[in-house]
Amino acid sequence: MVYSKIIGTGAYVPARIVKNDELSKMVETNDEWITSRTGIKERRISIGERTYQIAAKAATEAIKNAGIDKKDIDMIILATITPDFFMPSTANLVQAELGLEDIPSFDIAAGCTGFVYGLQIADQFIKSKQSKTILVIGAEVLSKVTDWSDRNTCVLFGDGAGAVVLKSSNQEGIICTYTGSQGDLQESLTLPAVPLKNPFLQVQNNNGKPNHISMCGKEVFQFATRIMIKSISQVLNKSNLLIDDIDYIIPHQANIRIIDHVARELKVERQRFIINLDRFGNTSSASIPLALDEAHKKKIFCPGNRVIMVAFGGGLTWGAALSNWTM
Ligand code: COA
Repeated sequence: MVYSKIIGTGAYVPARIVKNDELSKMVETNDEWITSRTGIKERRISIGERTYQIAAKAATEAIKNAGIDKKDIDMIILATITPDFFMPSTANLVQAELGLEDIPSFDIAAGCTGFVYGLQIADQFIKSKQSKTILVIGAEVLSKVTDWSDRNTCVLFGDGAGAVVLKSSNQEGIICTYTGSQGDLQESLTLPAVPLKNPFLQVQNNNGKPNHISMCGKEVFQFATRIMIKSISQVLNKSNLLIDDIDYIIPHQANIRIIDHVARELKVERQRFIINLDRFGNTSSASIPLALDEAHKKKIFCPGNRVIMVAFGGGLTWGAALSNWTM
């Protein structure tokens, strides 16, 4: 039996720290509101680095941490909602930046669930023996699509990247994955692309929405708490495990109140949740691999631990991956 397992992690965040107090000079908000409603104290913001550049830095660290030759990488899957171009994909740019030749590389867009989707795809490629060593990256420069005049959203997001190397093994790493989507809820969290405009339109379309994130916070909050619990239950059921069999949960880092709600419902102590949103905010596809890398560096996980990564995001999308920790 062939399994896939994580053999290396890496992360990179821009150096510029923006604390809540700095935002209170830009919009009608304050540190007390942001901290008590979200748990976020500060975030990192790119002052020039592009998505592929921070992705490549996280990937380079993951390859080094895995102790492999970068030439062993036979696929790059990159999750992002803030690509540098529609074409080429950000994964293509990372491939060039890392100096890797001839391997398939592609982006996936699944909102903040992108990294979990990426893990699921990589796991399938490895289990079907089409690939052996895959780089899965989540990377975002959300600051370029943030409306910095909208206090409902600009306090939430940050920039960053995280990556893992997934390798084929006869030891069970990833136990199971689960993903879902519900496009009819799209309006509650959107980031428009290019509006339809060409010389052949009968009526010229000048009302395309600006390309920044807009959100109905309450709707997303309610969806998030429900769907995180469902996603966790799905991977537990699929693998015949109970929540008490799980050592750690790495949730999408959106809001501490969402995580607290999930912890209460599942009757899991907060210490078993890996949390770093206070320092990085919501980094979308990057949030889980960033938290995973930090926990690994702090030696929080032991070999034999079972870890659930669980996310939700625009789409709306959701998903979870349950893995043995083998490093
Ligand atoms: N600073 C100060 N006040 C703010 C504010 C800010 N940054 N943002 C909103 N407010 C105000 C609102 O205008 C509202 O004022 P009003 O009562 O006078 O109308 C009040 O605070 C309460 O707003 P509300 O939206 O009810 O707050 P909330 O408790 O729902 O928290 C979110 C707002 C966005 C933090 C919360 O809904 C959330 O986290 N939702 C999920 C978002 C998410 O995870 N998105 C990413 C998904 S991947």
